[in-house]
Amino acid sequence: MVKDLQQLSLAEAGKLKLNLSPVNLNELIDKVCHNFKWLAEEKGIMLHHDHIPNNCSPRIDADRMTQVFVNLIGNALRHTPSGGKVEVSVQQQGDLVLIRVADTGPGIPAEKLPHIFDRFYKADASRSRSESGTGLGLSIAKGYIEAHGGVITVESQVGRGTVFLITIPVK
Ligand SMILES: Nc1ncnc2c1ncn2[C@@H]1O[C@H](COP(=O)(O)OP(=O)(O)O)[C@@H](O)[C@H]1O
Ligand SMILES: [Mg+2]
Repeated sequence: MVKDLQQLSLAEAGKLKLNLSPVNLNELIDKVCHNFKWLAEEKGIMLHHDHIPNNCSPRIDADRMTQVFVNLIGNALRHTPSGGKVEVSVQQQGDLVLIRVADTGPGIPAEKLPHIFDRFYKADASRSRSESGTGLGLSIAKGYIEAHGGVITVESQVGRGTVFLITIPVK
């Protein structure tokens, strides 16, 4: 966690050194989803990543972006109840890549949404530390995406689900 905080501080200061190279997003997302397959099956959740263009290879830091996906998909799987769905999709629009991680979980109340990218913020205070993470995952995701010159946003509806949207330049 100390390492996470260091990375986060560097990212927020705009001083994070990224290891940029063209990375096939389809392959990267496929790998992450493959690693979550057991958890999705155990929880009875459909984890989909269909129709991801195979020629979409933005210059990104593969390790950092993997960490972002692990957190977003891990969060989605943790919050979504059995019978639900988690969907990852990618679209290229001109010089931008749009990435979407959507779930059919409980959603996040509107008053909590503005805080979920804050350090150590956990929307569900009753959740024990061991059951979930440290509350750093989304702030790190935001730091890493912004270090790539990108943007991460969230849309959520209580009772329906949550969508995280990432936009990064192709470069
Ligand atoms: N997909 C989601 N559905 C519902 N709540 C979410 C989702 N993703 C994140 N959250 C809320 O945002 C908080 C912060 O997420 P994060 O920074 O990844 O911390 P952590 O996963 O360690 O709790 C979570 O504790 C949870 O309350
Ligand atoms: Mg998390």
